[in-house]
Amino acid sequence: MFSRYKKEPAAQPVATPPKSPAASPAAPAPEAASTAVARKPVQKKAAEVASNDRDRKRKERLGEIKIELHRELLENLNLAALENAAEAELRSEISAIAGEVLESKNIVLNRDDRAQLNKELYDEVTGLGPLETLLQDESVSDILVNGPQQIFVERFGKLEISDVTFKDEKHLMRIIDKIVSAVGRRVDESNPYVDARLADGSRFNAMVPPIAVDGSLVSIRKFKKDKLGIDDLVNFGAFTEEMAAYLQAAVSTRLNVIVSGGTGSGKTTTLNALSSFIDDAERILTIEDTAELQLQQTHVGRMESRPPNVEGKGEVSPRDCLKNALRMRPDRIIVGETRGAEVIDMLQAMNTGHDGSMTTIHANSARDGISRLENMIAMAGIEMPIKAVRSQISSAVNLIVQASRLQDGSRRMTSITEITGMEGDVISMQEIFRFQRVGLTPDNKIIGHFTATGVRSHFSERFRLWGFDLPPSIYDPTTM
Ligand SMILES: Nc1ncnc2c1ncn2[C@@H]1O[C@H](COP(=O)(O)OP(=O)(O)OP(=O)(O)O)[C@@H](O)[C@H]1O
Ligand SMILES: [Mg+2]
Repeated sequence: MFSRYKKEPAAQPVATPPKSPAASPAAPAPEAASTAVARKPVQKKAAEVASNDRDRKRKERLGEIKIELHRELLENLNLAALENAAEAELRSEISAIAGEVLESKNIVLNRDDRAQLNKELYDEVTGLGPLETLLQDESVSDILVNGPQQIFVERFGKLEISDVTFKDEKHLMRIIDKIVSAVGRRVDESNPYVDARLADGSRFNAMVPPIAVDGSLVSIRKFKKDKLGIDDLVNFGAFTEEMAAYLQAAVSTRLNVIVSGGTGSGKTTTLNALSSFIDDAERILTIEDTAELQLQQTHVGRMESRPPNVEGKGEVSPRDCLKNALRMRPDRIIVGETRGAEVIDMLQAMNTGHDGSMTTIHANSARDGISRLENMIAMAGIEMPIKAVRSQISSAVNLIVQASRLQDGSRRMTSITEITGMEGDVISMQEIFRFQRVGLTPDNKIIGHFTATGVRSHFSERFRLWGFDLPPSIYDPTTM
């Protein structure tokens, strides 16, 4: 039965026939022993509590059978041969092995449970176990694991708890290990957090105990094959046609743009959409911690910075990438997120011929974004009078686009602000468009509309000279 993917029998004729654990109780695996012990009080409690949680019990039972079967599968499958196995073949192999083991244990499962078990075993052997279902679910955009028993997912902008769980912390750790070892990293007590990219491009971060107090914390930002484009964002109400026309003029005429926003507010999505306005003839270099951007242009060089390895060596910081990028004859530089010392080089690049560069920062408003830039410069150890810092920022950055995730889960471009220069010690700015909130529906949806502020763009002459003659009505608050 375990035909092609079964391990060759080992040379030593040890009496541990893998298919009949019932007959080899001599050395139960430690995990099995602890499962059996841990199970009892739960069952007792369940019996006391109610009969209506049959479903939960069924899940528990399936979980236990699965752990046992999984161990047997790992013992029996020839993992090297597995790599080249066709999916259908492997599925039928796994189902056959599971069938044999169930039979040998006199366990009868109904058809649905069998199918579910086979799927989970397949995911466990080839993929990321319980996470696999969520990764395959197109409607899930973020997966957030708070220890083995609690997994939240984000669907359509809203967080909800999922019914997927890990068996225990050990199980969760095994999956984390699988992910990080695939990218040559390690995570353990002495090295308790890690950033990685999954095979499908999803962004992955994990932090393990003891730093994570109640069990490992995992966050996954799923990779969207088709990133939202400008039209999608306009259709979703993230901004208006007029704003899109303005942004097109801004990007095409090589203004330096910063997308500012909170966590998960849509910064990367916005940056990606804005990049679509860049001319196909330009050479674009992108620098990211985890490569998420999907530029449509032909001439794109992508860089991914690298944290230090376990021995603390081999780091290639975003700043290193950026410095190097400047020697690579870019027309534009796009930095996925500016959060540290690379800000110096970014501003310098923006000031010295690489105009049209773009980045994102973590901030709650345009003004806040400027303060963040000032802080980053100070933290980078640059001793410069504040006026000089501000003057550097004001001449480098032309536009701040604020992305926000509102309380109803919707993501909107809540403000587009131009930086127009300095007035004394203060950077002067003017808001061109904003999202005006007016209320809340009974089911907590935000009511509001986008509006121009009535201020004409500081760059309108530049737009005109470059052939983007926007109609004055675009700046008129009464026409939007
Ligand atoms: N306007 C929008 N409408 C609907 N979904 C959106 C919108 N903008 C972004 N999203 C979705 O929201 C999620 C988060 O977006 P994104 O990765 O761009 O955020 P971010 O601000 O870069 O997050 P982080 O701070 O983690 O880097 C993604 O799944 C993305 O597809
Ligand atoms: Mg991002």
